[in-house]
Amino acid sequence: MCRPALKVAVVMMVRIIFAQDPQPAFSYARLAAPPFPVLASFTTCYWLRLTRFREESTLMSYAVSDDRDNELRMDHRVGEYKVSLKSIWVETSLETPFRMWTHFCFTFQHRSGDWVIFVNGESRSEGNIGRLSGNIDPEGAYVIGQEQDQFGGGFQRDQSFSGEITQLNFWSSVLSPLTISKRWNISGEVAWKVWQKEDICSRQRRRVTFFPDRFSLKASLHLCKVVGGRVMVPLDNQENMRLYERSQGRAIYCSKGQGSSYLWMGATDSQQERLWEYWETSEPVSWEGPWRGSGPNGGTAENCLVMLSGTFPSQWSDIACLDSYEFCVPCEFPQLSTLYLKGPAVCPNSPFNQEYVLGNEEGGRPALHGFFHSDIYWDTANKSWAIRSRKVEGATALWQPLREGNYPFGTKTWKLAGEVCNMLPGTLVNLTLSICRSDQFTCSDGTCIPLGNRCDLRIDCGDQSDEAQCSVVQLPKGYRNTIPPPPTKEGSPLQILFYINIIAFPSIVTQDLTYVSTMSLSLRWKDVRLSYLNLKDDRTLNLLFGEAVESIWTPRVFFSNAQGNIFTNLDQGARVEVVRQGSSQPAPPHLTHEMNIFSGLENSLETSQLYTLTYTCDFNLIMFPFDAQVCFLRFTLVSAAATYMQLVPTAANYSGPPALIEYTIGRLDMERVSDGEFSTVQVNVRFIRRYGFYLLTLYIPTTLLMVIAYATFFFKIDDFNSRIVVALTALLVLASLFTQTSNSLPKTSYFKLVDIWLFFSIVIIFVVVMLQTLIDFAGGMQFPRCPFISSSSILSSSSSIVQVISKDAEAQEIPTFAPTTPEKKNNMTIMIFSRILVPIIFLIFNLAYWGSALTHLAKLDT
Ligand SMILES: *[C@@H]1O[C@H](CO)[C@@H](O)[C@H](O)[C@H]1NC(C)=O
Ligand SMILES: *[C@@H]1O[C@H](CO)[C@@H](O)[C@H](O)[C@H]1NC(C)=O
Ligand SMILES: *[C@@H]1O[C@H](CO)[C@@H](O)[C@H](O)[C@H]1NC(C)=O
Ligand SMILES: *[C@@H]1O[C@H](CO)[C@@H](O)[C@H](O)[C@H]1NC(C)=O
Repeated sequence: MCRPALKVAVVMMVRIIFAQDPQPAFSYARLAAPPFPVLASFTTCYWLRLTRFREESTLMSYAVSDDRDNELRMDHRVGEYKVSLKSIWVETSLETPFRMWTHFCFTFQHRSGDWVIFVNGESRSEGNIGRLSGNIDPEGAYVIGQEQDQFGGGFQRDQSFSGEITQLNFWSSVLSPLTISKRWNISGEVAWKVWQKEDICSRQRRRVTFFPDRFSLKASLHLCKVVGGRVMVPLDNQENMRLYERSQGRAIYCSKGQGSSYLWMGATDSQQERLWEYWETSEPVSWEGPWRGSGPNGGTAENCLVMLSGTFPSQWSDIACLDSYEFCVPCEFPQLSTLYLKGPAVCPNSPFNQEYVLGNEEGGRPALHGFFHSDIYWDTANKSWAIRSRKVEGATALWQPLREGNYPFGTKTWKLAGEVCNMLPGTLVNLTLSICRSDQFTCSDGTCIPLGNRCDLRIDCGDQSDEAQCSVVQLPKGYRNTIPPPPTKEGSPLQILFYINIIAFPSIVTQDLTYVSTMSLSLRWKDVRLSYLNLKDDRTLNLLFGEAVESIWTPRVFFSNAQGNIFTNLDQGARVEVVRQGSSQPAPPHLTHEMNIFSGLENSLETSQLYTLTYTCDFNLIMFPFDAQVCFLRFTLVSAAATYMQLVPTAANYSGPPALIEYTIGRLDMERVSDGEFSTVQVNVRFIRRYGFYLLTLYIPTTLLMVIAYATFFFKIDDFNSRIVVALTALLVLASLFTQTSNSLPKTSYFKLVDIWLFFSIVIIFVVVMLQTLIDFAGGMQFPRCPFISSSSILSSSSSIVQVISKDAEAQEIPTFAPTTPEKKNNMTIMIFSRILVPIIFLIFNLAYWGSALTHLAKLDT
């Protein structure tokens, strides 16, 4: 795309102003004749190619007097294009492409104040600055390449322009060209150059850099990659010839004087013979050059492409891909790639620039040109690579490669040869030069990997540099780990979040009133003084190690009611991690390595450690076995008083099996309690007894015994013997059960619910025995006339007495059943009364008993 929106008269040869690269900075061109006209509405267009940025990069300035020096001014700064009209600024964030011919147009409507900027023919920015107070006055000083701080003068270096400009035209209002390139007064190093029009327009053409040093195939592929390109394969005959002409001067050196192969080219036919494709992308090459002989002849053994010289100038050949072959290499770039310099020598206002592009050769090797004023080039005198500022005298850094022909890409240790960033000459600094952007990490060898892969316990860089120096925490100067962090909110104490996860209760001993708890305790807080590096979402990767843990402040918590004198510790098994919660900032350029920096205000530190401790608990057994015990664990923050910092109960969790042998673990809760001047958190644990066992071994057997005893009321009325025997046996069995149970239960001085039940069982069987006796006794009272009845007949049944009587002849007149009837009737009354009474007592008691037990259980559960 090479067509400006506003047509410029087609000129095959155009004139160029070439200003200020690299020194001096005070050249300019000033319009001498004709005088600058009145401007109301206007359009101006020009072609531009920046050689360097300047801090303000003023392309042109127009002053009508000393105090009206910004009547018209245009600045092409880094990431900004600004125009001043009568000191009113049009500000845009339009990028000016670096070292690339670009067409700019600026149009201004005087009546409305509307302006539009076209870049390469496309409208890229527009706006309105309101009506100007009058026109731009004529006959002032119009200067290209400098900013006037007074009429026709007052130039400053940082406001100058460094680059080339052509076809500068002004049109007054609508497209009536008013060409002002008439006669210029020139000062300083301003050159008129002649360019072919298509050279300017061919902005899109690929760039090629030839590295005149010998590299193995692997090193060549690597080199082109770290500078943002790939090993070149010419696309047509013209490119092929140009490459040959450009490099053949070094052909003898490149081939080590052996054979005619001297230049690697970036294609291989290892997949399929004679199908040449690019090394990394496997995309087929679109053009094949002139082959030596009839074409590639190496078969499957020779898969690498080289260019030949000598008797086969510019011809291609295939050779074996041996590591021992070393040739020179051309790299091709789809577009200009920017290299970034990072390290302690790139502080704010450093004499060294941060951004560079590969440019022309200097000292026989490609040089890197900084965006503003510094260069990186091969210094032949010192046999070193040099970073030199063209602005600040003496600001230089040198790197001497182990072997000539090594390039400074990646991280290298440079030696300062002048004062830079307050570092003395002779200081060694690690500087990184790479194409990696701020979201990438530069391996020591210059390769870029995603920044997220740094310090993730996986090796991504060939040289393992991504897993080196992985400290997570960055301490500021003067950090002291004895001083607690300031609160995150002004005026409130530091909040320390408290999490507890109880993992198990290995033992609960009711008799000793103790239990053992295994728990993981986590404390989370923010230390605003710290910053963290390269945090991952997976917090286990943000672990702090030994020294780092000791160097930071950590809270100390006392286990107040545990047995012994126990505090939180950072011994073996403790983890101190950073929890990523906030977003990151990219590292400033004065750090050698790219990193994500997280602030201590947004991200938290967390310690966690496992403890197994014995606690005492006042078991309350009144409701046994329908009891539930509420025991508590107390944690007191003893690092500082509650006015400085507080524990915030956040989450309590029991992650073990809910049902233990004797107890079920109920709900956990936490509360803040006041405990002197320190902040204290209490965790309440509920042990709910599992009463199923007692139901089975105690309640049901005793109930059965009571039923048996009760059943005696349904025995034959006159079989007193069996009735009393069965009832008494039940009583005896119950008594032994009672003794046995009591021995296996905790001894308390007070009654337990189970004791009441046992006592009741005994009482009720006792009542049954008594009632039986009463029944029998009542039968005896109603039979006074019977002489045979003695107190010893108690063991014989009533009916046998009746039979004895009926057999008796002397008692013939007495009807056989007559005397027994009232006796039986009396007995029966008491019997029936007992049959009803005992269940009623049992029912009432049970209602009361189970009612209270169940309500108690329900109360404990909530
Ligand atoms: C241009 O230079 C000539 C002499 O070289 C001088 O007479 C003239 O005043 C200059 N014009 C301007 C506008 O500076
Ligand atoms: C580099 O070489 C130049 C010229 O020979 C010399 O003046 C300068 O001192 C050298 N610099 C260093 C740091 O050796
Ligand atoms: C430069 O980096 C190397 C390797 O990582 C390291 O050993 C050395 O201490 C660093 N030098 C400076 C001055 O930081
Ligand atoms: C609580 O315990 C459950 C397992 O029972 C577990 O999945 C969960 O992550 C724990 N929560 C906390 C905050 O520890």
